[in-house]
Amino acid sequence: MPPYVHLSPSRTLTLHWPATGPQGLPSDGLSSFASGRQALFALATHLCPPERTGQVLLPVWVPEGVYLPFVRAGWRIIFYELDALANPDWRQLETLFAQYTFDLAVLIHYFGQSRDHLRMAELAKGHCPILEDWAHTYPNPYWRTPNKGNWALFSPTKLVGITDGAWLIGPNGISNSNKKGSWQKRYTYVFWQLLYLLASTFLQLRVPGNRIWKRISGGSYARGYQLLVELTNQAASISPLGAWLLRHTNHQKVVDNRIEQAIQYSEGLRNPHFQQLGKVGKEPFPWVGFLILVDDVKAFIAHLAQHNIRGQQFTDRWWFYEEVSLYPTARKLWQRHFLLPLHQNFSAEDIAYIIQVSNAYRKDDNSAGTTTL
Ligand SMILES: Cc1ncc(COP(=O)(O)O)c(C=O)c1O
Repeated sequence: MPPYVHLSPSRTLTLHWPATGPQGLPSDGLSSFASGRQALFALATHLCPPERTGQVLLPVWVPEGVYLPFVRAGWRIIFYELDALANPDWRQLETLFAQYTFDLAVLIHYFGQSRDHLRMAELAKGHCPILEDWAHTYPNPYWRTPNKGNWALFSPTKLVGITDGAWLIGPNGISNSNKKGSWQKRYTYVFWQLLYLLASTFLQLRVPGNRIWKRISGGSYARGYQLLVELTNQAASISPLGAWLLRHTNHQKVVDNRIEQAIQYSEGLRNPHFQQLGKVGKEPFPWVGFLILVDDVKAFIAHLAQHNIRGQQFTDRWWFYEEVSLYPTARKLWQRHFLLPLHQNFSAEDIAYIIQVSNAYRKDDNSAGTTTL
C-alpha cells in the first residue's frame, strides 16, 4: 500500500504567480461577497423590501448555506422535490409556479454537475427570477452568464485555498457594504480560515506533526464555520487577504485537474455497492467532489477512513433535516450520497489509490471520516 498520510478534500494554500483573475466572470452585474450565504442574504434583501415577506422556491435537497439566508431574511420557503438523479421534478415545479407567487426560484447545480437551467428559466418566466447556484464549481470560459433578469452564485471557497469570497452575478451589482456589521467577527473569521488553510496545507505536504495539524485544521474549521453562520446577514465584500489569495490561485489548474480527476474516477470505479451519479465530460465544469450513491454510506466512510481517505457530504445533522426528509426522493439522496475527494493538487496516483481502495470496499466496515459542505 502506498505510504499516504492523508487524502482529503480540505482546501490548501497553493500560491501562483503571476497574479490573475478567474476566467469567465463578466465585469457587469458582478458583486463580490465574503461568502455565498451573505450573497444570498443580500440578494433576498435586494429583491424584497423588509416590510413584505418574500417567498422562495428551494429544492428539498438543500444545504444550510442556501436555506439559512432566506430564513434570516424572513422569507417563506416552499420546497420542490427532485427525481432520483437530483433533477427538479418539473411537473411539480409547474404546479407550484401556478399555485404560488415567488420572488425567487433556486436551481442548484449539485456538486458542479449542471442541471437544465434553460428549462427552469422557461418555467419561471413571467413568475420570478431564478438563481443558478454554481457554488460547487468554478468559473471558466465555458460558463455562460444567466439570461436577462436572472442570477448566478459562485462560492470559490469550496474549491480553492482562499480565506473567504463569493460572487453574485445578475442584471446589476448589489450592495455589499454592511454598515452595522462587526468587523471584528469578519476578521476573526478570516483568521480561523487562514489557520485552517495552513494546517491542511501542512497535512497535505506531510510536514511532521500529522496529529497536531489534523486537530488545528478541524478546530479552526469549526470555529470559522460558527462565525460564517453568524455573519450570514452581515453582507460584506471579500477581505483583502481573500482577494490576494484568489489572485494568486492557479485557476486553470483548478479547472483542468478536477475535470481530469473526475474522468479518472469515472473510468476506474467498479463496485456493485455504489453507483456514480452524473455524467462526466458532458460539460467542462470542475466538480467539488465525485458524487456516488452508496448502499451503506457509514460503512463506506469507515472503510475509506482506515486508509486515511476522507470525502464530503451534505450532513443530516442540519436542524431542518427533519422537515426536508419528509420528501421521499430527496431523503434517499440525502441518506445515500457521498463525494469522493477531488483536489487540484492530487496526482493521478492519488486518485488511482482512492479508486483501488473504493473498489475493494465490501459492505462490512465501520467508524467515521467526512467533512460537511
Ligand atoms: C450549493 C451551495 N450554495 C451556496 C452555499 C453557501 O456558500 P458559502 O458556504 O460560501 O456561504 C453552499 C454552502 O454549503 C452550498 O453548498
